[in-house]
This record gives sequence, structure tokens and C-alpha cells, in this order.
Amino acid sequence: MKILITGSKGQLGSELVDLLSKENEVHGFGHKELDITDKNRVINTVSKIVPDIVIHCAAFVDADGCESNIKTAFDVNTVGSGNVAIASKKTKSIMVYISTDYVFDGKKTSPYLESDIPNPINIYGISKYGGELIVKNLLNKFFIVRTSWLYGKGGKNFVNIILRLVRDKKELKVVNDQVGSPTYVPDLAKAISALISTNYYGIYHITNSGECSWYEFAKKILEYVKIKNVKVTPISTEELNRPAPRPKYSVLRNFNLEKKKIYKMRNWELALKDFFKK
Ligand SMILES: NC(=O)c1ccc[n+]([C@@H]2O[C@H](COP(=O)([O-])OP(=O)(O)OC[C@H]3O[C@@H](n4cnc5c(N)ncnc54)[C@H](OP(=O)(O)O)[C@@H]3O)[C@@H](O)[C@H]2O)c1
Repeated sequence: MKILITGSKGQLGSELVDLLSKENEVHGFGHKELDITDKNRVINTVSKIVPDIVIHCAAFVDADGCESNIKTAFDVNTVGSGNVAIASKKTKSIMVYISTDYVFDGKKTSPYLESDIPNPINIYGISKYGGELIVKNLLNKFFIVRTSWLYGKGGKNFVNIILRLVRDKKELKVVNDQVGSPTYVPDLAKAISALISTNYYGIYHITNSGECSWYEFAKKILEYVKIKNVKVTPISTEELNRPAPRPKYSVLRNFNLEKKKIYKMRNWELALKDFFKK
């Protein structure tokens, strides 16, 4: 297959380029090569390649940054995704739109299903949900993949931040009242690879299974890297006082992925252990 990937220098984009290049013709575009807010560039680039599949990973992902840069959040996450959808429609390409657990408000107490109605509570979530709506309304052949709490070898993610902080801190204060599912980027990339080999279009939740709070996640990281001399103290979201409100519970259930027997995601603790082993 011919596959075009936006945001190809990001955590997920770069992993997908590596994985999918083994068996496909992959054209990756980083931010500098293709700014998705430039509609004409997006249309010209996609039209030149005419890919079978467009995997749209580019996004403005900093939830706090989105609160203070509302225009950029909507320009990139909503309008920019719309540009990618318009281009995909012109070339009749299948589009994969990567979305987020933050489209939900976090009021549920059991894992969110694909059939649950989004109700985002911060600018990042609203702008990403805007992208979902455009993709869903404009295209017939699309996959919307909602995922959460990504980490992998590169990039600014929770695992790398914790590992950096423990170098010179003896205590970490970590939020204990937000619960989600940490997701290992290579696992997600494999599931996306399996998904795009089907024609079961629609909305999918794809995360590692199981759930934890950020505090529990931090404790597990330190346990696996065998750091015993750093104290981890649980705090509330209120105490941390970040600009973007966060859903208290954003666990996603991989219902459609499992029902259609496309791919089975392993437990987040197994994936984390594997990450450190590698
Ligand atoms: N990270 C998470 O925990 C998480 C959770 C749920 C869902 N997601 C979704 O998963 C997808 C991949 O996230 P990720 O973790 O791989 O994020 P990432 O590492 O930040 O990658 C996103 C990439 O998009 C690029 N980008 C930003 N604005 C752009 C623009 N206007 N045009 C083109 N490229 C642009 C960024 O480039 P610069 O850095 O140069 O700006 C970056 O390389 C995103 O759709 C995100 O919403 C992520």
C-alpha cells in the first residue's frame, strides 16, 4: 500500500513510519515539510502522491498550551484535520484520524465505549473532537482511533519526564485523582497496522488494557527502573492547578477492536516492563 503520514516526526508518526515502511511505500511528512494548516499545500501534497491511506498523526497535543493558544488549537486540530480530510476525499484515500480520550468528560466510572457520546471539557479535547466530526461527516472510508497517555522511546511524555525528574529530585508529587490507560506507542502502531489491513471502517478505542492513576503510573515506572530513593507523593488535580481541566476518568475500552477480532492490546504494566527491557 501507499501510505502518507502527517506528523511523521512525532512519537506515533515516527513509530508508524518505521513499522509500516517494512511492507509498504510510506511517505512521511513532519511539521516543517507539511504544515497541515496550509490547505493548498496539503491538497497538493496528497494529490501528488495519491495514497491508499492517509494516517493523520499531526496535532497540537499540549493540553495546557491549547488553553492559552485557542486559535492555534482549532487551526491545527480542527481546521488542519479538515484540510487532511478534504485532501483525502479528493484522492479517494482512506483516512485514519488519531484522536484522544480527552473527547470525554470523565464522569463515567466504567471504561468508555466507542458508542459513548463525547463531551470534551478542555480546548484540546474540543478541538480534537471538531476534527473527528469533520472526518466522520466528510468521508465514507475512515478510521477514527482514540488513544490515551502515549509514551515511547522519544518525545515529551510522562515516562520520560519522570525519568528526567528523578535525576535530581528526591520527591515527586503526582496526581492521584485522574485515571486512564498508559499506552505504549509501538503497541498502538501494531494495532493500527492491523486495523488498516481491514475494511472495517469506523471509530476505534485503542489503548493498552487496564487502568491506573498518574501516581500509580509513576510508582510503577520507578519500580521497574529500580529507583528506591525517591519518594512519590499523591496529590490532587486541584493542588497541581494546571490551566486545562482534565477528565477524572478517561479509560477507553477497546470494544470494537476486540469484537471484530482485529488486534488484542496487552496490559499496560506488561507493555511498560517491555519498554524498559528494550
Ligand atoms: N501524546 C498523547 O498522550 C496522546 C494521547 C491521546 C491522543 N493523542 C493523539 O495522538 C496523535 C499523535 O500524538 P503524539 O504523541 O505522537 O504527538 P507528538 O509527538 O507531539 O507529534 C505530533 C506532531 O505533530 C506536529 N505538528 C504540530 N502542529 C503541526 C502542524 N500545524 N502541521 C504539521 N504538523 C504539526 C508536531 O510537530 P512540532 O513538534 O514540530 O510542532 C509533532 O511532530 C495526535 O493526534 C494526538 O492528538 C496523543
